[in-house]
Parts: sequence; C-alpha cells; structure tokens
Amino acid sequence: MTAKIQELLEEVEQLQASTKEEAEALRIKYLGKKGLINDLMADFRNVPAEMKKEVGMKLNELKNKAQEKINALKEAADSQDHVADDLDLTRTAYPIQLGTRHPITIVKNEIVDIFSRLGFTLAEGPEIEDDWHVYSSMNFADDHPARDMQDTFFVEAHPDIVLRSHTSSVQARVMERQQPPIRVICPGRVYRNEAISARAHCFFHQVEGLYVDKNVSFTDLKQVLLLFAQEMFGKETKIRLRPSYFPFTEPSAEMDISCDICGGKGCSFCKHTGWVEILGCGMVDPAVLEANGIDSNVYTGYAFGMGIERITNLKYKVKDLRMFSENDTRFLEEFKSAN
Ligand code: DAH
Repeated sequence: MTAKIQELLEEVEQLQASTKEEAEALRIKYLGKKGLINDLMADFRNVPAEMKKEVGMKLNELKNKAQEKINALKEAADSQDHVADDLDLTRTAYPIQLGTRHPITIVKNEIVDIFSRLGFTLAEGPEIEDDWHVYSSMNFADDHPARDMQDTFFVEAHPDIVLRSHTSSVQARVMERQQPPIRVICPGRVYRNEAISARAHCFFHQVEGLYVDKNVSFTDLKQVLLLFAQEMFGKETKIRLRPSYFPFTEPSAEMDISCDICGGKGCSFCKHTGWVEILGCGMVDPAVLEANGIDSNVYTGYAFGMGIERITNLKYKVKDLRMFSENDTRFLEEFKSAN
C-alpha cells in the first residue's frame, strides 16, 4: 500500500493539463468518489493497526498534494483561457514607438499659440479655391501677374478653380460670413507653380492674420508684430518695416527681424545687412473690405501673412526646403525635443 501511495505521489507531481476540462478529468480520476485516492481510502481498513498511523499520514499527504496540484492546474488553464480570449495577434507589438510632430506643425502651433494669447481665433478655408476668394476679392486686377499660369495651378476643367496660392483667401472667407470685430489667424497649405529646389517648392505653408474693427491703426499692427517676433525669436529681437506693395493692403510693408545669428552685426545668413525678412503686412485696402461686405467708412483693419517654412528655417536653420516634404525620419527625429 505504501508503495502504491508513493507511486501515486510521484504521478500527481507530474500531472499536466492545458484546459480546464483536462484538469477536471484529472480531479475525477484522482479525487472523485470512485477515484484512485478514494480506492486507497477504502483499502485503508485492511492496513495492520501498527502501520495505520504512518500509512494514514502518507495517504493524507497524497490527497492534499493531489488537491493542490489539480487546483493549480485549473487556475493556470483558466488564466490561459482569458489570455486566448484577449489575444489579438494582428495588434502592433508593444512598446509602440511614438513618432514626432513635423517641424512645420511644431512652428505652426507656436505661431497660432502666440496669436491666440492676443485674442486671435483660428479660421481655415479650402485649399481648392475659386478665383474670387484668392484674387478678385483681394483686389487683384484682372491682369495681375500672380494669376498667370506661371504661378497659379488651375484645375483644368474649371479655369475659375485654382489651388490657392496664398492664405489671404481665408480673409475673404471670414469677412463674407462675419461682421467686425474680426480677429483671426489662418494657417494652411498653399501652392505655386515653381520648380522644386532647395529654396523653392510647389507647395508650402502660410499663416495669415486679419484684424478688422473700429479704429484699428498701423501702430496696433506694428506692436502686435513686435510682440510676435519677440515671443518667437527671443526678447532681444528687433523689427523693422519697409514700404512694399500688395494689392490687398494700403499702405503695405515687409517686416524684417534682426538677424539672430550675428546679432545684427552682419553675416552671410543675413547677406551682411543684419536683417532678415519674415513677413508681409499692411492696412486692409478699403476696396477689400467693401468687396467682402464690410463698410470701409466705419471699419479699418490690418493683415499680415508669413511663410511657416521661412520661420522654421530661421528658428532651426534648415538649409534645404525639400527636407520638409521628404519624410526622412532621420531629419524628423531631430525635432523630438521640440515636441
Ligand atoms: N499673401 C501674401 C503672399 O502670399 C502675404 C501677405 C502679405 C499677406 C501682406 C497679407 C499681407 O495679409 O497683408 O505673399
């Protein structure tokens, strides 16, 4: 009997079950009413009295071991079943590597954030636009060279439909549906028929700003742009405005900031002038207000427009514009810390 108990003890030790059903079958085989251990219990009464104590202890040990082992097998099979339920082999393996924001997005967000703090709200418009919103409502003469095939991508079947060549079109989109006060910032992609090189691309990104209200002055424009430049490029940054021409603003100006590479002393980056150009701006031409349903006798406004690639170049010294659209992860990963 002792030998039989020992044999079963070793057997129990080795038991295996991969499902709950298999574990239950083992329970019935060893611990069930008609199981092997109960058979031994029945034989126990035949054990000589002097051996009863020793054999009894062994038998109890076998029963406990078998119970423990089979419970453990059941539990393991149970959790195994849950894993199988939840296991989706098509899922991406962990850990999922986080990507980085694109430098253009990083800088766009920063520009939008600075102007949001000044009370500007976000406005967007379509990239595929009509001539009215891109040109006519912005006071471009019918024969203005910007409408020329050289610059504008036309949608062939519709000579009136173009890929917008600037985000100024969003000014018109906002003014036609809203009366002043208007204070919007409009980021977006624009397209021009340019040969692709390190310095030019057929698509790039701009941010347009528009403020229309009573008594808006050129001084307001200058102060807002100074604040923007200092937030973007550092407190020491100086600005200067040079007279310029845009069909939609009068007077118009181009804004330069002091070169942050040489601190304004002059270097090859700023072509030894100490200044670099960053945006166009001016007072909204009364003709633009009128074309968009706003009374120019009551309201005045200012507008500005800047290239995001240009600002990004100044901040991060990216030498080749093509890098922005090549999706080279070695380049993109360089902006990890700016995210
Ligand atoms: N639309 C101009 C461009 O694409 C940029 C610009 C200049 C926008 C002056 C403005 C502005 O709103 O006032 O070059």
